[in-house]
Amino acid sequence: MKNTVRILASLVAAALLAAGCATLGSQVPAPSAADRGWLLPTAIPMPADNLNTPARVELGKVLFFDPRLSGSGAMSCSSCHLPHLGWTDGRKLPILPNGEVVGRHSPTVFNLAYNTQFMWDGRKVSLEDQAMGPHRHLSKADFAAATARFRQMAGYQALFAAAYPGEPISEETISRALAVFQRSLVSRDSAFDRWAAGDTTALTLEQYRGYKVFADPAKGNCASCHSGPNFTDNGFHNIGIKSADPGRFNIRKVAAMKGAFKTPTLRDIALSAPYYHDGSAATLREVVDHYARGGDDRSNVSPDVRPLDLSEQDKQDLVAFMRALTGRQVAFVEPKLPQ
Ligand code: HEC
Ligand code: HEC
Repeated sequence: MKNTVRILASLVAAALLAAGCATLGSQVPAPSAADRGWLLPTAIPMPADNLNTPARVELGKVLFFDPRLSGSGAMSCSSCHLPHLGWTDGRKLPILPNGEVVGRHSPTVFNLAYNTQFMWDGRKVSLEDQAMGPHRHLSKADFAAATARFRQMAGYQALFAAAYPGEPISEETISRALAVFQRSLVSRDSAFDRWAAGDTTALTLEQYRGYKVFADPAKGNCASCHSGPNFTDNGFHNIGIKSADPGRFNIRKVAAMKGAFKTPTLRDIALSAPYYHDGSAATLREVVDHYARGGDDRSNVSPDVRPLDLSEQDKQDLVAFMRALTGRQVAFVEPKLPQ
């Protein structure tokens, strides 16, 4: 009897496979307690002296999209961190209005509330600190001039009064509002999250297999660095990219930090190509191939990056898994700027 059931079950599975059915939901096992550990905590971490309030989020959103914050008046934060490109710019490297190319790729700015290190080399300790600059598109003098201009604008006076009552319009309050807005940007509720929360129909079999490759130390070994709910250990590693950039070594003069960069989140990763601190990988498949061959410059590579024994199927599954990390997309409405 048991055997008959088993044979029937495998016949059904074979039929479904033959039919090219993409979502073999019933075949994906239920998540374990450990799998649920990937779910992002619902509460957004925030510093006690700069709590998220709706008025602060609104002010920060306006400032983020206002090109008048920059010296040239031609660039806003959103010029390099675009909502529809996973809050990156889709370029290998950003270009300033004067034609200068910035040396590092624009990273995403969502889920940063869950991070403890900022910038590719971790030289910033908080989002407030990051927003204070120095910025490549915004000199200290420009920042001061923009602040003086905003003080004269009735629209900004009202927004600041609502967000930080009794406090002046200053570089500090501008930076604090920008930090609050960015903390409000959270990517969650991806297909993978829905599976981890118990919905066994949320992942395709391919995506589920990719998760297994990702998490298995003897296969992809990806989770040794892309760990925890935000898929980052908040650490710095050299993954064997050919690049002259010293990375973290600029900040911490330890040999292991030469060519080491911050582990980026993998949430919404399908939206934010190209990849790496230098934008040198165009696709997720290129990234997987890079890890499979153990990197290219192995002179100071992390011991966790080594040639992997991955089949063609494993590689495709890994890419499929990363595509399952795209959070629920809410249409983003750009704010109206005060005149
Ligand atoms: C010219 C393009 C450009 C503009 C404009 C820009 N950024 Fe960035 N942003 C970058 C690049 C490139 C990096 C990474 C630099 C590095 O690590 O050395 C970055 C890093 C960041 C980070 C750190 C993210 C992380 O994962 O650690 C935050 C936060 C951020 N930017 C917010 C802003 C805000 C706020 C503004 C507006 C005041 C802004 N950016 C304007 C290109 C830009
Ligand atoms: C030793 C730690 C480590 C391991 C192991 C590791 N990564 Fe990474 N990953 C990083 C770091 C650090 C970066 C950024 C490197 C850079 O830009 O120089 C990165 C970058 C990436 C990126 C590009 C992200 C972006 O926003 O640009 C993807 C995608 C990625 N890794 C996927 C994977 C996959 C898939 C695996 C397993 C096959 C894996 N990683 C294994 C640390 C690691």
